[in-house]
Amino acid sequence: MLLEMTPAEGRPVRDSASTLSEIALPNDANPLGTLFGGKLMQWVDMAAALAASRHARRHVVTAAVDYMTFLQPVRIGQLVVLKSSVNRVFRTSMEVGVKVFVEDLTSGDVKHVSSAYLTFVALDGERTRAGIPQVVPETPEEHLRFQEAGERRQHRLDMRARAVERDRVAAEAAVRQGEK
Ligand SMILES: CC(C)(COP(=O)(O)OP(=O)(O)OC[C@H]1O[C@@H](n2cnc3c(N)ncnc32)[C@H](O)[C@@H]1OP(=O)(O)O)[C@@H](O)C(=O)NCCC(=O)NCCS
Repeated sequence: MLLEMTPAEGRPVRDSASTLSEIALPNDANPLGTLFGGKLMQWVDMAAALAASRHARRHVVTAAVDYMTFLQPVRIGQLVVLKSSVNRVFRTSMEVGVKVFVEDLTSGDVKHVSSAYLTFVALDGERTRAGIPQVVPETPEEHLRFQEAGERRQHRLDMRARAVERDRVAAEAAVRQGEK
């Protein structure tokens, strides 16, 4: 059940755009001595959740992560800076984009190491899905992200529908197998 319809008033992207900074510590290393990819995924989820909950002003849960790149390894000791913002709100869900940079603290060099798109769903105190205010793009870049997020949603929903259909066919086959 949906608690309420999408609130009419929108909020600008800049109101919820967030930055999370972490240091890659030795405990987070993979066997090659660089940052374990799963740790970066955790930080990306956290950074995205920050922007999503700031925008919705509600609890949010991750519904999907449909794109994430790992462009460069992160070295232990580097500062990892994750910038997140809400690209577009649909009804109870929203797409959040995260761009990750590393800063070498000794040289000051900054590199783009990862990008990701995540979908979050807003929930009320009863864990019921809740409407989210629309995000208002202001800059040309925000307008582009808003438009592209709509295209990605269509693809995402198509993929989801296909997965549901595959599961349905597999379940029917399992029943038929059991009947033999
Ligand atoms: C995410 C969740 C609330 C969706 O609930 P649901 O009953 O499947 O709801 P619906 O199918 O009606 O989808 C709700 C919204 O999410 C969107 N959504 C759901 N799954 C999606 C997916 N795989 N990709 C993109 N959007 C998705 C729907 O399009 C819909 O958006 P809209 O209201 O903006 O149109 C539910 O699946 C859930 O609780 N999942 C576990 C979440 C979790 O534990 N995350 C990890 C820890 S935070």
